[in-house]
Amino acid sequence: MTAGTEAGDQPARPRVFITRRIPDIGLDPIRAVAQARVWDGDLPPSRPELLAAVEGCSGILTLLTDRVDDELLDRAGPGLRVVSNYAVGYDNIDVRACAARGVAVGNTPGALTETTADFAFALILAAARRIPEASRFVRAGRWTSWGPLLLLGSDVSGATLGIVGFGRIGQAVARRARGFGMEILYSSRTAVDPATEAELGARGVPLAELLARSDFVSLHVSLGPETHHLIDAAALALMKPGAILVNTARGPVVDSAALYTALRDRRIGGAALDVTDPEPLPLDDPLLALDNCLIVPHVASATTATRGRMAAMAAANLIAGLRGEPLPTPVPPPA
Ligand code: DGY
Repeated sequence: MTAGTEAGDQPARPRVFITRRIPDIGLDPIRAVAQARVWDGDLPPSRPELLAAVEGCSGILTLLTDRVDDELLDRAGPGLRVVSNYAVGYDNIDVRACAARGVAVGNTPGALTETTADFAFALILAAARRIPEASRFVRAGRWTSWGPLLLLGSDVSGATLGIVGFGRIGQAVARRARGFGMEILYSSRTAVDPATEAELGARGVPLAELLARSDFVSLHVSLGPETHHLIDAAALALMKPGAILVNTARGPVVDSAALYTALRDRRIGGAALDVTDPEPLPLDDPLLALDNCLIVPHVASATTATRGRMAAMAAANLIAGLRGEPLPTPVPPPA
């Protein structure tokens, strides 16, 4: 018998760190199988707090605000088996470093597709029809009369939508656009099944053509070295005057300084951003001073049902990883 154990003792439950409070539908099953510490702050743990908290853990449930890299993996130590990200995007995780240590990585694909597509479409409509500006106008007491030229926007129905990145979310946005009678263009680095194209009435074109022809450009690519600043000054210069850029992907896909200049000079009509670079956006960021830039705080997936689904998926990945079983939704190790 080893010191500290007695006949009939259960093996010690694995230690896990959960970096923020998530819905109970995810916390409950984790607590049933592991000694779980949940970070209870309203803000994410600071880097030193995070590094200290993961020491000796077998599993970590991370958010997109937590950077998982060599330093963190070293601090967690050799007992770490799984990192489960409470997000579909995993640009916060060095997947190669995890793979090199045999640490499984999971994410939550599919859980937030429709919710995020709804929100991208909400941003398209809000920016096109200047809804936030109109609401501010009323609250400022400026609504004195119906006006023929008051707060004119642009039509969404019948316009051309360019979808950059045609995976699950991009295609879900296309389905919504069909209902608005839009012409749908897309650009994608991976081949799209012709049957899907036909079903969605979408046409694949090179990015430059998409930018030049679209009235609305909606971004749905993951963030990586190939997509960092994909929308830079040159890309913005290709867009139609008056076109609107919508970003529900990741902030650094757009070069913020170039976007600021294009919006300020009215080179493009507007932007609607659920994601920014950095996040949160400091209050003195120049983008916040522009009327033609709508910014919301990375909430495209924020519905009760979707956040619950994400929690359940992240928990299932974490538990499978703790048991040494294949994760239900693994992030593929890099080639
Ligand atoms: C994700 O899952 O990647 C979103 O950005 C957050 O819901």
